[in-house]
Amino acid sequence: MVQIDRLFNEINPKLGEFTFDENVAHVFDDMISRSVPLYDDVQRVLPVLASLLDHPVIRVVDLGCSTGTSLIQLAQALPHRQLELIGVDNSQAMLDKCAEKLSSLDIQPQVELVRADIRDYEPRDASIILMNYTLQFVDLPSRPKLLSRICQSIRPDGFMLVSEKVSHHQVAVDDALVELYFEFKRRNGYSELEIARKREALETVLVPVTVDENGRMFREAGFAEVELLLKWFNFATFVVRKSAG
Ligand SMILES: C[S@@+](CC[C@H](N)C(=O)[O-])C[C@H]1O[C@@H](n2cnc3c(N)ncnc32)[C@H](O)[C@@H]1O
Repeated sequence: MVQIDRLFNEINPKLGEFTFDENVAHVFDDMISRSVPLYDDVQRVLPVLASLLDHPVIRVVDLGCSTGTSLIQLAQALPHRQLELIGVDNSQAMLDKCAEKLSSLDIQPQVELVRADIRDYEPRDASIILMNYTLQFVDLPSRPKLLSRICQSIRPDGFMLVSEKVSHHQVAVDDALVELYFEFKRRNGYSELEIARKREALETVLVPVTVDENGRMFREAGFAEVELLLKWFNFATFVVRKSAG
């Protein structure tokens, strides 16, 4: 059963920097569905793109897999394709929650969970790399090297699906879009206090860059094709490939 996220509403919340600990893992599925616009659409696009690959075995590596939602939905959407699913996360609490979700599903044997820092992890021969809402948590200086390693690990006709919170060049536009995002959270039942506390907790941990800056990093890492697939105010999803697809 999905637990409702009230972490920042408690009388004595654990304040300080946001971490993906047990408390977060416990309510994560509710938190992400109420905090990330177009989250379900991002899940929906993945099997459509994956089904276009003619690889006999589609090897998917989800960097920052959290509770495994993307891998689970992909496997359920493509029951007749042979999938090798690898979820990587550095939070044991998130991986435990993922394992708990998988335990009641018959796709469990197809999934390998790896506890690792994605800055050190070497994905191998991937058809698809997923990196949804995770790069934003990686310190800026480490992003170029991580992206180069990912690019080298993808098969020539594979792709990476990456989603990020993004910032904007014009301060007024950026401020307006942040306000629209807070409105989205209010509509999803978060109070002013919860919104303000979460914002403070994420301040130094989640570092968004612009769509252009992300595109530049992908290209410099070796991706020749960078497509902006979805954009909702301050959130963006890209599909990137090494060569024209
Ligand atoms: C916002 S969540 C990702 C959500 C998930 N991809 C989805 O679509 O449901 C970010 C995840 O990345 C993980 N993470 C953050 N930095 C990481 C790092 N350096 N190495 C491995 N995992 C990391 C966190 O533990 C967390 O589970």
